[in-house]
Amino acid sequence: MPGLLLNVLKGENARPRPIWLMRQAGRYLPEYRELRAEKGGFLALVYDTDAAAEITLQPIRRFGFDGAILFSDILIVPYAMGQDLTFLAGEGPKLTPRLAETTLASLEAVSQRLSPIYETVAKVRAGLSEDRTLLGFAGSPWTVATYMVAGEGSRDQHEARAMAYADPQGFQAIIDAIVTVTIEYLCGQIAAGAEAVQLFDSWAGSLAPSEFERWVVAPNAAIVAALKARYPEVPVIGFPKGSGEKLPAYARETGVDAVGLDETIDPLWAARELPAGMPVQGNLDPLLLLAGGAQLEHQALRILDAFADRPHVFNLGHGIGQHTPIAHVEQLLSTVRGWTG
Ligand code: CP3
Repeated sequence: MPGLLLNVLKGENARPRPIWLMRQAGRYLPEYRELRAEKGGFLALVYDTDAAAEITLQPIRRFGFDGAILFSDILIVPYAMGQDLTFLAGEGPKLTPRLAETTLASLEAVSQRLSPIYETVAKVRAGLSEDRTLLGFAGSPWTVATYMVAGEGSRDQHEARAMAYADPQGFQAIIDAIVTVTIEYLCGQIAAGAEAVQLFDSWAGSLAPSEFERWVVAPNAAIVAALKARYPEVPVIGFPKGSGEKLPAYARETGVDAVGLDETIDPLWAARELPAGMPVQGNLDPLLLLAGGAQLEHQALRILDAFADRPHVFNLGHGIGQHTPIAHVEQLLSTVRGWTG
């Protein structure tokens, strides 16, 4: 029996609504913190395929979410291309050397750094019951490029945006290289057992409209077209965070099957403006999950009601915060599962 989540991503307006949460495997879970302390470091966890599979399954065991998302990171692609990757506590990720200090030509994709991830996918699929959907993912080229060029997270994606204006051809070459590796990477995940994939474009919101077409819509469309040529049955979820009024164009032009909505999007607006019948995913503010109580209940129901007439996957508008109480996740689950509207 295929999972509820997969059915909804394929266009079925099913009840109850499937639910999973972005960053559901992570630091708000005591069982994750325990394993992380034992293995010492994020990258070590990702490349220990037994540990990574176990972490992917932890939130499913605890909460029974409808989807399991592979435990990995969007920065595995730059790492595979040859940048060194470190995660320092409290400082966020660092990629060295920055792309501004080296050249793209010296960064050669190494599939050795990708194949362990496929092994994790296969281990998760083997440990997951058939009615739960396994989600693979990658970062979208624009978002990945912002980290590759700056060497770290940046306040307003300044370095990448400046380069895209100053040297559009050079920047296009970076985007094209990421597109190529990302297609290989997602095909590898699908071949190993991922049943749907999500493209995270966390910094799509920092681009001016003309730049959005070139650096968000076009590369995502290229990835979707290549995936569809090989795996027409596998749904692709696009999550162009912060793209606001550009969402309907993104939904129409990229070829994604479903769109993820961040918490700044009014669900009633999205229900009206997105292509009829297109599945949506989202979009509770993760801070409401931190707060809990009547507000959480009220807002979750508002989202469920707004999307009653189209396929909807319940999720947050962005990743779950590390200080989120477990009890609030349980509260949300019972609200979502209890909704029959
Ligand atoms: O959603 C999941 O549970 C699956 C795994 C996953 C992680 N990162 C694990 C992770 C996914 C899908 C991501 C995506 C990701 N990574 C994005 C896109 C989504 C978003 O949040 O906007 C981005 C921009 C990154 C880059 C990244 N990775 C940053 C900026 C950081 C440090 C800040 C932070 O939140 O800790 C990471 C580290 C990271 N990725 C952790 C986890 C569980 C924390 C590692 C730890 O210290 O234990």
